[in-house]
Amino acid sequence: MTVYLDYAATAAIRPPEVADAMSAYLRDVGATPGRAGHRRAVEAGRIVFRCRRALARLFGVPGDPGRIAFQLNATHALNAALFGVLRPGDRVVRTRYDHNAVRRPVAALARLGVAETVLSGFADGRFDLYEADRALAGARLLVLSHASNVLGTAAPLAELAARAHAHGALVLVDAAQSAGHLRVDVAEMGIDLLAFTGHKGLLGPQGTGGLYVREGVEIDPLFSGGTGGESGSAEMPVAMPDRLEAGTQNGPGIAGLLAGVEWVLARGVDTIHARQSALKARLRERLAGIPGLRLLSPAAPEGVGIVTVTVDGVDPAVLATRLDRDHGVMTRAGLHCAPEAHAILGTEASGAVRFSVGWATTEADVDRAADAVAETTRAGAGR
Ligand SMILES: Cc1ncc(COP(=O)(O)O)c(C=O)c1O
Repeated sequence: MTVYLDYAATAAIRPPEVADAMSAYLRDVGATPGRAGHRRAVEAGRIVFRCRRALARLFGVPGDPGRIAFQLNATHALNAALFGVLRPGDRVVRTRYDHNAVRRPVAALARLGVAETVLSGFADGRFDLYEADRALAGARLLVLSHASNVLGTAAPLAELAARAHAHGALVLVDAAQSAGHLRVDVAEMGIDLLAFTGHKGLLGPQGTGGLYVREGVEIDPLFSGGTGGESGSAEMPVAMPDRLEAGTQNGPGIAGLLAGVEWVLARGVDTIHARQSALKARLRERLAGIPGLRLLSPAAPEGVGIVTVTVDGVDPAVLATRLDRDHGVMTRAGLHCAPEAHAILGTEASGAVRFSVGWATTEADVDRAADAVAETTRAGAGR
């Protein structure tokens, strides 16, 4: 028996409906959406539309679900947003909790003449709102993670978005860790652009994700190519979602994503969150008693189900390997693609071990994982 506690990386365990939907698509539909008028293509288009509509419901998108363009993952969506909106001479404000999916494209844009200001952030996941206010004056865009993939904390989105808007800046939210786990309402929270991935909290397959772009926000396409419409023109269509959807869509992936999002909508994000918060609290409580173990992530019941730890004298990579090899407990060690967040915690040299719960995690899983950590560290892993 194994215990999977790496849901923050990917929901490797998915509701069976996801694989069923993908296999039904490949078996019974198989065509490319939006590329022909025959019945298979129409059915493919219907599935893609249903998925857009389900995502729009999940994220509180007002009006046209076509404001959501499918992308391959959050990384592609973030690149599409950052490169599509920012121009040389603009300034972007980001934070030290950012994943490399934000940090690296912003660094690439800096080489093209986009200025960057980085908000410092605290070890408990909070921000200095005065610092944010000062940084946002004259900025074009604020980009931030809704939930930190290292700390599991949730950013004060609405407060930061209000400050950004007061200075005329747009707000881009990286919802890679929050979609499906925390309530996201783009209208209520003042989100202009929302990047999400399909394979984590939305329980879809890898290779799915998307970008919501608020009506009125101008965005240039990062990729150009066929869209199945306006084919006489050498320019990408102006209308969403075609503007950001060059090339053949991931039909089977989107069918799987639809099944995942429907699963989330049927349970309700608040119910999912409450359950995962309780599991996180239990895991924290069980781990806290282990000698030498440092809980790096705060309790943050309003955040996501992530518990990141180090153990004195134990190499995180060795601990994660032994947990898997000796106890079947799967976690993620290292810097979690967020080196600046680890720098805040003082763990930038060798990282930490991250446990992350998901839809199928049970109390028994959590207890087994904590027992495994106690046993492994008692035996002195990596000392
Ligand atoms: C906060 C955050 N942003 C972005 C990403 C990138 O997601 P993807 O690899 O699906 O593009 C991740 C995934 O690890 C993440 O945790």
